Amino acid sequence: KKKVLVLTGGGDCPGLNAVIRGVVKRAKSERGWQVLGSMEAFNGVLNEPMEIIKLNNKNTAGIHVKGGTILRTTNKGNPLSFPRENPDGTIENIDLTDILMERLDSLGVEAVINIGGDGSQRISQVLYEKGLNVIGVPKTIDNDLSQTDFTFGFRTAVQIATDSFDKLVTTAESHHRVMIMEVMGRDAGWIALHTALAGGAEICLIPEIPYDINKVLGHINRRYKKGKGFVNIVMAEGARPKDGEVYSRSGKEEGAEHIRLGGVAYQLSHQLKEAGCEAEIRETVLGHTQRGGTPIAFDRLLATLFGVKAFEMVLDKEFGKMVAYKNNGITSVSLLEATKEYNFVKKDSYLLKAARGTGISFGD
Ligand code: F6P
Repeated sequence: KKKVLVLTGGGDCPGLNAVIRGVVKRAKSERGWQVLGSMEAFNGVLNEPMEIIKLNNKNTAGIHVKGGTILRTTNKGNPLSFPRENPDGTIENIDLTDILMERLDSLGVEAVINIGGDGSQRISQVLYEKGLNVIGVPKTIDNDLSQTDFTFGFRTAVQIATDSFDKLVTTAESHHRVMIMEVMGRDAGWIALHTALAGGAEICLIPEIPYDINKVLGHINRRYKKGKGFVNIVMAEGARPKDGEVYSRSGKEEGAEHIRLGGVAYQLSHQLKEAGCEAEIRETVLGHTQRGGTPIAFDRLLATLFGVKAFEMVLDKEFGKMVAYKNNGITSVSLLEATKEYNFVKKDSYLLKAARGTGISFGD
């Protein structure tokens, strides 16, 4: 039988299991194919002994409904820079791509389907240049990949954030409070912007528009003056003040510090108090709840289509490419193209204009 190896890398995301099941189902309708899964990204191939499982209709039945990934995942399995412990206890990062290629060869794998975000697609490109028959499937709750209109997981994250937002609105109103809700999104403001529009936030802070604390406070005070004694703010984890420190998880920005994001809601709360905010403020950091649980129907559908398409790309030998969702259709783009630029919210986008049009302030 011909073998195709599937793996999931980077942070988990609702819909990963639906992609895996989509690959298996499509492969089953083709004679002579065996789908294998590598546990914890490429670690399953690199570990001693290898951790490779056979995927079939039985062990993938019903998994499209489940969050997480049955293949498990890791942020620490980059074969280009793999952490190895030396005898003296020090850690050295070594390039294991040649060993990886040899092992994949020994497994008799025809092609690899690498389901992952920005980082995984870059690894795939390097492996493709080394001769691996690889296909990428885009995964991110952050929506920060530029060559696909959407990825699975993003809308589920927005749904989870919106559900939480709705709950915060009623308690904000009862207590006349300012509620700051921090959402994920890495260096992009997509989750925050979509949630702010869907939920009807008064203020939305995103990394693409550094905020002026006095403008944020001015907007809050105007609301209270009008007698609307509560404010709901949606804040992206990458949002930052105009003249403040530069926060960046991916370090894409010049001079960016590689610090762990999260908790900017507390920073904003502190800044507002320092600037003279008289209203009571409460903070909520949604964190990894946005990545857990069942994917919504749209994400299951998109993920299933991605899985089916990825296997069809194996059949058509469309290697070195990533599956993509564009203009309401499933297509493919080269990995090189897919990893060229980061997908920020564009300043002149209609989404942003519409948000401003509904009265949402961005603190600028
Ligand atoms: O990229 C997905 C994401 O959830 C980001 O939104 C967030 O910044 C990051 O991953 C969190 O990573 P970790 O799970 O390593 O804390």
